[in-house]
Formats: sequence, structure tokens, C-alpha cells
Amino acid sequence: MSVASLIAADLLIAVLAAAGWLGGGAAAAARRRRLALGLAAGALLGTLARAVTVTVLARAGWWFAAEKVLVAGPLSLAAVAVAGPRLVRPPGDIRSAAVPLLFAGYAESAALLVTVLHGYPASAGAGLLAVAAVVGATAVSWRLLDARPSPTVSRTAVAVAVAALVTGAGLVATPAAAPAVPHALAAQDGRAVGEPTRRVTLTAGTATVRAAGRDVAAWAFNGQVPGPELSATVGDVLEVRLRNRDIARGVTLHWHGYDVPNDQDGVPGVTQAAVLPGQEFVYRFRADQAGTYWYHTHAVSDVGVRMGLYGVLVVRPAPAVGVDVTVPVHTLAGRPLPEARTEPVAAGTPVRLRLINTDSTTHRYALAGTAFQVAAIDGADLRGPTPLVETAVLIPAGGRYDLVFTAPGTPVALQVDGRVVYATGPTSVATGGWPVLDPLRYGAAAPVPWSRVDREFTLVLDRGLDLHGLLPRYAHTVNGAADPDIPPQLVRFGEVVTFTIVNRSLVVHPWHLHGHHVLVLSRDGRPATGSPLWLDSFDVRPGEVWRVAFRADNPGMWANHCHNLAHAEAGMVLHLMYQ
Ligand code: C2O
Ligand code: CU
Repeated sequence: MSVASLIAADLLIAVLAAAGWLGGGAAAAARRRRLALGLAAGALLGTLARAVTVTVLARAGWWFAAEKVLVAGPLSLAAVAVAGPRLVRPPGDIRSAAVPLLFAGYAESAALLVTVLHGYPASAGAGLLAVAAVVGATAVSWRLLDARPSPTVSRTAVAVAVAALVTGAGLVATPAAAPAVPHALAAQDGRAVGEPTRRVTLTAGTATVRAAGRDVAAWAFNGQVPGPELSATVGDVLEVRLRNRDIARGVTLHWHGYDVPNDQDGVPGVTQAAVLPGQEFVYRFRADQAGTYWYHTHAVSDVGVRMGLYGVLVVRPAPAVGVDVTVPVHTLAGRPLPEARTEPVAAGTPVRLRLINTDSTTHRYALAGTAFQVAAIDGADLRGPTPLVETAVLIPAGGRYDLVFTAPGTPVALQVDGRVVYATGPTSVATGGWPVLDPLRYGAAAPVPWSRVDREFTLVLDRGLDLHGLLPRYAHTVNGAADPDIPPQLVRFGEVVTFTIVNRSLVVHPWHLHGHHVLVLSRDGRPATGSPLWLDSFDVRPGEVWRVAFRADNPGMWANHCHNLAHAEAGMVLHLMYQ
């Protein structure tokens, strides 16, 4: 059983156990003896079963089980100790078992809430709040059911509940060493890179564009979605003048995967101010990194990118030979882009398809009708890519794969999630059953370029209640906190840094560090054995643990976030800072 299904199964069992105890308690209060005993027996089984699921999760990684062991564990033990005997030897009047069964229900529910609302890391504050809630709810049930506990028992219960509540609330409310994130609004300094050799102006504005045969409202660069394709040759100096005509919430340009100097990175509030209607900002950087990239707004990026403020950036080592096409996939107003395109290609022509996923979720790509190689991922060439046939690739949000092949005499078709987007002639092939390429096992290995690690960070991705803003929200969290409360990661220039990224949530998180490419070391403890993978966007699926490394060689303050942009907006953003 995968870690992800264990997480889900454990959650489900916890819900059923809590409901079983509570239902059993209610049935006992109503003197429905058989129902009460039946429900409670089911709940007892569930509670005991969690000992197994939680143990297995803890063995997969402490991050997956910490609060389950430390909070749910003791609460479940108490539940079994109090309610268990009533099941083994049921009292004559079942009503007297009501409070013990309800107590077990409160204990299981409180533990469940700690997992769902708080998660990792386990905290004493959350544990104490849970205890206060359980004791308080039990005392109230006791009174309502008129079971008349002795005055000593009720006084002790009140004292315990109040003490736990006060201490727990105090611990939870204590700000976790509030990270002072200095906003380095750098003065623009693009002049050092030399005279521009390519000049472009991108004007952001509201527009009506055609998508899959229908007119839709969009936000567009120069009136088109995607925006103009920017291409350059290594050594060019790009100068891009961004103007905002009427995007009220502001725009910027972020060069996704392009490791530009920090002041050109386009993150509002961090590297520049958002460009408001009527304003402009000039980006200038040297194109010295060949490969397939894309640009997009980073101001209210979830809405901005979804509405169409994105485009392709391709930097070639030399002028293109053969057929070299970009396929930026996007969903605009629920309609898939780009439209299918068919062009005949003479047999023997070298073809490069640059696949770009500009959506917030993973897409599946399948190239039918030819053998091909994955020449590059996220702009970086792979080492020793071998020919693949009838193999699909999964591209994470923000990611790019370059597929290359020599055109055969027969038609070739590229499908995205089963829809043809590019073809050299009419074909129809069912690709849904094809296996998916694992890039960690593809191509030829090379040694890791560093023999030491100077700094290690762990990022545990989850969901949780965020009480730090004006309104409480159910945030996407990193180490239990949400933006802007996630402490920044401090590094020094030249250090070798590792991230261990753990996904204990039930959704995929496409991870994206700005300004650096990271080398994948391992996934779920198994080392990557294929070509070195230098990525800027990678899917950390539920239950997965990725270990990646990079050299801190690009000073500044860099966003480090989930590229499901709705998740980013809902808290899953932190910053990497140079000291
Ligand atoms: Cu493409 Cu910070 O993102
Ligand atoms: Cu995410």
C-alpha cells in the first residue's frame, strides 16, 4: 500500500471510529442497547486498527505520523481504557455507558481535528487544546445526561479543562518567532549586462480572444494568448519593456526557470513593485542559458496566469535546424489551448517539440507514430537519453520537456490528455494505456558534483488552519505555517543546500524554486539513477519525499513555492534568502 493510500485510509478509519464512538454514546443515552454496543464495537476495532496504520506511516517517515503518535496515540489509549471495559462487560442499564462512549468519541474527534487543522509539526499547544476540548465536552455530556458525577470529579474535570485550555491557547497563540521578511525592493540594475540585442514590448491588457472556437474574456500580452513567443540565441541581451494598460491588480514578468539576476525576477513585493495601469518596467538580462522556458505575471499570479498572462521563452544555442515547435498547453476559460495543428514534415527531418505546461495541474503527453528521446527537461539537456516508444510523459505545472525525433515517412501525433495538439498527418492512436516515463530512471548517470552538504532544509507540505490573517482560512501549509508566516530559508553564497520535501497532504504539489535549478538526489529514499536531473518544477505527489540539492550561486531573495498557483495564493509560498 502506498504512503498516500495509507494516509487516506488512516484518515477514513479515524473518521469512522470517531463517528462510531459518538453514535454508540448517543444510542446508549437513548437506551438502544444493541445499536450502542454494535457501534462501539466497530469504533473499538477502528481505534485499534489505527495502531497499525499509524505505525506503518511512522516507519515511512516521522513527518507522516508525528501528531498521530503524540496526540492521537494517548487520546486513543484513554478512549480504549475508559470505553473498553463497558464493551467487555456491558452494564445492566446501558445508559450508564453513554458518557464513557461519548468520552471516547470526543477523544477520537479531537485527535482527528489536530491532524486535519494542525498537522505537522505536532505541538504541545494543539495537544493541550484537544485535551481541554475532550474534558470540557465530557463534563457537559455528564451534566446533560444527568449522570451526576461526584462534586470532586466535576471540580477536577473543570480544573483540568481550564488549565489545558489556557496553556494550549497560550502556546498556539505565541507567534512562532515571527520571520521578519525584509522586502528587498531592489533598484533596477539591468545596465551591467550590455547593449540589448533583442528588444520587445509586452503590453498587458484585458482582451477578447479566441479559444477552441469561442470568444472568451482574457488578460493578454499584446492582445494574444499566449503572449508573443520570445526567442533568442545564447549570448543575446534581451530587453523586455512591460507595460500595463488596464490590469487593475498589476502585472510583472517572471521568467519561469530562467535563473536571471534577482532584480529581474519579477516577484512583486520581493524583487519589484507590481506594475500598475499606466506604468511600465524594463527587464534586461543576458540569455546565457539555452532551453525551453516561459514567462508569466507574478502579480495575483493564480488569476493572472489562468486568465492568459503568459508566453514562451526559447533560447537556442544556435539557429534552429529542422522543425522546432513550442507547444504551450493551457486551459483558458475551461477551453484547452493550443488548437490542434497539422503540418506535413518530410521524412528524415529532425523535429524538436518543446512541451510546456502552463496550467496549475499535471498534464499527460503521448507522442504516437515514432520513437523519440526526451532531450531536455526544464531547459537542461539530459545525459544519454535513450529512444522511447509508446511511452507517455507527465509534465508538472510549470515544467517543460523537449522531445526529439527524426520524422518518419508516416504520420506522428502528439496528444495531451488524449487530445491531439500537433500532428504531421492524420492518425488516431489510443495512448491511454501507455506506461509513463520515470525521469529519475532515464538516461545515463553522472556523479553528483559536490561531496558535501552545507545546509539542509525540510519542507513538510500539508493543509491547516491559518489564524494569523484577518479571517481564518484553511491554508496550504509548509511546516505548519502559511505565507507570510513561513520562516525564510537563510543561506550563504557558495553553500551546497538540500531540500527534503515531504507531501503529507492528499493533493499534488508541483514545487518551484526561483533563481536556481535543483539536482534531484532521491525520491522516497531511492536515489535517482538516470541522467542528472536539473529541475525547476517537479511534482511531489501525496506521500512522496523528494530530496534535491543546489549550489547557492545566485544571491538575492527568491520565492520558493508550490506552482499550483491557487495553493501558492492559499499560503504555500516561502522565501530563500542570502545572508
Ligand atoms: Cu512560474 Cu513563482 O513562478
Ligand atoms: Cu500545491
